[in-house]
Amino acid sequence: MPAPDGDGSAGEGGAQDLSQESIEGHVAAALRAVGAAGDLDELKQARLAHAGDRSPLALANRAIGGLPGSEKAAAGKLVGQARGKVNQALAARQVELEAERDERILVDEAMDLTVAPGRRPLGRRHVLTVTAERMADAMVGMGWEIAEGPQVEAEWFNFDALNFDKDHPARQMQDTFFVDPAKAGLVLRTHTSPVQARSLIERGVPLYVAVPGKTFRTDELDATHTPVFHQLEGLAIDEGLTMAHLKGTLDRLAEGMFGPGIVSRLRPAYFPFTEPSAEMDFRCFVCRGVATDPACRTCGGTGWIEWGGCGMVNQNVLRACGVDPDRYQGFAFGMGVERTAMFRHGIADMREMIEGDVRFNAQFGMEI
Ligand code: DAH
Repeated sequence: MPAPDGDGSAGEGGAQDLSQESIEGHVAAALRAVGAAGDLDELKQARLAHAGDRSPLALANRAIGGLPGSEKAAAGKLVGQARGKVNQALAARQVELEAERDERILVDEAMDLTVAPGRRPLGRRHVLTVTAERMADAMVGMGWEIAEGPQVEAEWFNFDALNFDKDHPARQMQDTFFVDPAKAGLVLRTHTSPVQARSLIERGVPLYVAVPGKTFRTDELDATHTPVFHQLEGLAIDEGLTMAHLKGTLDRLAEGMFGPGIVSRLRPAYFPFTEPSAEMDFRCFVCRGVATDPACRTCGGTGWIEWGGCGMVNQNVLRACGVDPDRYQGFAFGMGVERTAMFRHGIADMREMIEGDVRFNAQFGMEI
């Protein structure tokens, strides 16, 4: 009977061929199967087939008992050595395949512990929001209140209450967006100053209010202009207020925004709602007014940076809002939040503040 090759399923009880040839055939078949096993599962199958209870060599081993006594020793040695070879081959392949498996696991399941975990980027508050809040905070720190008003404003509050004559050229100066229909008398507010009149009427005097807010003018968008911008307005009305109080307040605000020792200065100007009126500058925080060669790039060598307008509130404004100008007087000021943010943070182009690129804002928007 030919030796079963491969699956080794010789029927039990069948006559067993215990010739050397046959046994060597079983060994050769077993070694082939062991060598061909590509993974531990296949090796397990080969072990069952060639070294299991029903494998040809196991059956041959069992058949030895039925041999005549004189043949038993030789057959026992033959089959024993054959089984030993197969078991050795199985054990050696087992070691190899286990090593291969472990190797593969190390590669497949490798983890790079130095990889940064995916983070959800945090939102940032916009630099203009943060700047306006800081300005407002400086005012609150002096005991002032915060007031707000509508962005779509009555022409009366935006101009008339503020002593702009009907045909005053300043109305044109303000490059106004009028809201349709024109006879509705509504504009997009061109400055935060109308909230002066609103606050006087709503809250009465004495009054100390700061007004951060959005304002609109028909300007083209470029590096230094935007049709939508922001201002901080201040209005103080009380008994006995003078320009000295105005100057002191502006100095504190300048220090709050640009650091200790940064003061303000006033230059004569004209606004319909203040008399006298002034433009205000703050001390250049880079050169601090000390001449440098080449000239300071932040202030152009003047030592001062323009900030906004201010003055003593015109008596006509107080009268329009029902306040007795013989008893109460005060001062007002207004400046750009964009301009303040640009100088505070060294932002050269206004457009960057409104384009919404998160990479820009992430640089400045972290302050709480
Ligand atoms: N409203 C003015 C503007 O937008 C700025 C201004 C000037 C505000 C003088 C004031 C002030 O309160 O007193 O140009």
